[in-house]
Amino acid sequence: MRFFQSILISVLVVAPTLALSGNPARIPGTRTRSLLHRIPGLPVLPTLKEVQSHRVSESASLNLTDIQFDIVVGQQKIKQLFYFFTIQNATDFKTKLKDNVAPIVTSALQMLSTSTQPIVAVNIAFSQTGLTALDVTDDVGSQEFTAGQFQSATELGDDPATWKPELAGTSVHGVFLLASDTEDRINTQVAALEATLGTSIAKVHSLLGASRPEPNVGHEMFGFLDGISQPAIIGFQDPSPGQAATPPGVIVIGKDGDDQAASRPDWTIGGSFLVFRQLDQMVPEFNKFLLDKAPTSTDLTVEQRTETFGARLVGRWKSGAPIDLFPTADNVTAATDINTHCPFAAHIRAMRPRKGIPFDLGTSNMIMRAGIPYGPEVTTEESQSNTTTQERGLAFVAYQSSVNDGFVRLQVLWGNQENIFGKPLPHGVDPIIGMPTANRPNRWVTGMDPTNPAANITYSTTFVVNRGGEYFLTPPISALTGRLSQ
Ligand code: HEM
Ligand SMILES: *[C@@H]1O[C@H](CO)[C@@H](O)[C@H](O)[C@H]1NC(C)=O
Ligand SMILES: *[C@@H]1O[C@H](CO)[C@@H](O)[C@H](O)[C@H]1NC(C)=O
Ligand SMILES: *[C@@H]1O[C@H](CO)[C@@H](O)[C@H](O)[C@H]1NC(C)=O
Ligand SMILES: *[C@@H]1O[C@H](CO)[C@@H](O)[C@H](O)[C@H]1NC(C)=O
Ligand SMILES: *[C@@H]1O[C@H](CO)[C@@H](O)[C@H](O)[C@H]1NC(C)=O
Repeated sequence: MRFFQSILISVLVVAPTLALSGNPARIPGTRTRSLLHRIPGLPVLPTLKEVQSHRVSESASLNLTDIQFDIVVGQQKIKQLFYFFTIQNATDFKTKLKDNVAPIVTSALQMLSTSTQPIVAVNIAFSQTGLTALDVTDDVGSQEFTAGQFQSATELGDDPATWKPELAGTSVHGVFLLASDTEDRINTQVAALEATLGTSIAKVHSLLGASRPEPNVGHEMFGFLDGISQPAIIGFQDPSPGQAATPPGVIVIGKDGDDQAASRPDWTIGGSFLVFRQLDQMVPEFNKFLLDKAPTSTDLTVEQRTETFGARLVGRWKSGAPIDLFPTADNVTAATDINTHCPFAAHIRAMRPRKGIPFDLGTSNMIMRAGIPYGPEVTTEESQSNTTTQERGLAFVAYQSSVNDGFVRLQVLWGNQENIFGKPLPHGVDPIIGMPTANRPNRWVTGMDPTNPAANITYSTTFVVNRGGEYFLTPPISALTGRLSQ
């Protein structure tokens, strides 16, 4: 009975919206449940009221009705599809971009309350070859973006042979990011977009991301809570205790904190560069590595040893609790505490060097992460055989106004180097994302044994393999009806 009632109600709600909108790309309906997760330990989004009462300088102010939501909202989606496409007929596409796509692109402001969220949140971003296809030849101020990610695959530490053929090269012109609470709703949105856009575009690749099931909601595939340390963007939210604040221009193009603000084309202001990487995670292999290489100097049980080793590699326990504050055991109630002391090589310390470096890093290297896991949970067979047979990992997404100061700095300089900033103790590459290279197939790491920090662990296993990616520009919504569709 309840089932029929809800159908009846949704028909009543849906029908007038459909008649009014007349846009076949729009999925009608209103929301009663947020499409974002509220994950304990992750930064809380500001409410609509907070945003509206936020007083910041003109140069820091953000037009939240013009900014695509994913740039500022972070990693809290329930399901999200990445739909990569190539533009086949630019004239046709521009008309539809303006008339049908732009009206359904979701702004940051819309995401802040459930009642203003759409059934499926839609974002769109373009690669350099996509802009070129649209005959937009403006210099947007990023060499990395202009060249495309595949061009620097080797520099990033990837083996180009591991890239999926669909992503290798520069044939991806754009990507739709479609977020919702169910896969069905996403599929409905895909069908509506495909029907509307017709042959103006063609799908090149897609990847469905989903938050992991209980009890791992919010955790990445190795088991660690992800998305804890995100910068608070001044002009959007106030930093919570211990959270680093960043001028908006480090993330949002053209704003206070973007070094190149003066030379950016007008239509890019309010946009951001989206770095996408499809990072396969070899979970059974990672777990075997933990078992095989965990320091044995302490009288811990095997389970405690492997948990501790994993935590030292990441810099946080699986719950998110920082290991500098809780060096010997996880503490779930401390998941949001900030971190200062942990192994130099630990992922979080490599990605955000702190203490023990000769200068203040400032904020220019901060990124806003917005990734989501993909693939099934590890099966018993995979875990018993220590072998991955199904693709799973992290659909890595990072936003920044400078690809070079953000993602590239983190991956190439801080992630892939064995001894950054001449640290007192050489530490080896970031064990999570530091990539092996042809002349350095074996990676090594120190700082993992608390009783002997210099102990050197050498390993040839790779746990994270990039299957491809691209650099995109997520433009402000106004550019979709303006420069990009002219
Ligand atoms: C499959 C690959 C990856 C996994 C499993 C992973 C996992 C994690 C985890 C568990 C954390 C700690 C929780 C948090 O603060 O959110 C973290 C933090 C972070 N990760 Fe990753 N990550 C991956 C790839 C990357 C990549 C490719 C980058 C950038 C090049 C990156 C940059 C960061 C940053 C900046 C932080 C926050 C550091 C801090 O300020 O404490 N991660 N990651
Ligand atoms: C903010 O963006 C919206 C949508 O693009 C636009 O209509 C509005 O004029 C902008 N507001 C300001 C103050 O620039
Ligand atoms: C591209 O689309 C336009 C507008 O819909 C149409 O007139 C034109 O014939 C198409 N061009 C090609 C090559 O299909
Ligand atoms: C766990 O962390 C909480 C909050 O920081 C603290 O009050 C509590 O004492 C800690 N428990 C242990 C066993 O360390
Ligand atoms: C999986 O790895 C563990 C740890 O090295 C080992 O004890 C176990 O025998 C391995 N299982 C198989 C099937 O190889
Ligand atoms: C750790 O061992 C590797 C080889 O196994 C070596 O190349 C590296 O220099 C060593 N690191 C330190 C700090 O001793």
